[in-house]
Amino acid sequence: MRLQWSHSVIRVRSLELMVAFYRDVLDFQISDRGPLGPNGPEIVFMSGSSTDHHQIAFAVTRGEEDASSLEHMAFRVDSIAQVRTMFERVTKDDRVQGAAPVTHGNAISVYFSDPEKNGIEVFCDTPFSVQQPQIQSWDPGLSDAEILAAVEAGFRNDPGFMPMSEYRAQMAQTFGENDA
Ligand SMILES: [Fe+2]
Repeated sequence: MRLQWSHSVIRVRSLELMVAFYRDVLDFQISDRGPLGPNGPEIVFMSGSSTDHHQIAFAVTRGEEDASSLEHMAFRVDSIAQVRTMFERVTKDDRVQGAAPVTHGNAISVYFSDPEKNGIEVFCDTPFSVQQPQIQSWDPGLSDAEILAAVEAGFRNDPGFMPMSEYRAQMAQTFGENDA
């Protein structure tokens, strides 16, 4: 299976310090921000490209005892079938901890941890854009079409729901990718 690099999520101590640095020095822009669950810590998503809703995200979840700032690193695959295959692979592998099928509406993912507890996300894009953060589960026992239909039904009424093609066209404009 071919995995393509997508993004990292980093635990931070100062959200504003980190967001300002990545905006000012690396030209990233905020694509979304909000709490991780009711009363949860805030997460800020940033990107410099229309091809990824976020290339980096910062969550205010880094405690003094956390040696690593890495929450997870994410890799894109081409299809729901490949995400399911990865879910089945890691579920059977006793080196892997906590395999979880998760969807953010704009992606269908499996989250798990490597043997040193670094978080990994393997996901495929969906045709939908949804305001983030969002999290639901998906059922690996369903067919690809059933999973996609369930994801659409689960997020259709959420803020910012639109075709991903429309979202990417907007972001391409934001990042000046269509400029000559
Ligand atoms: Fe992610």
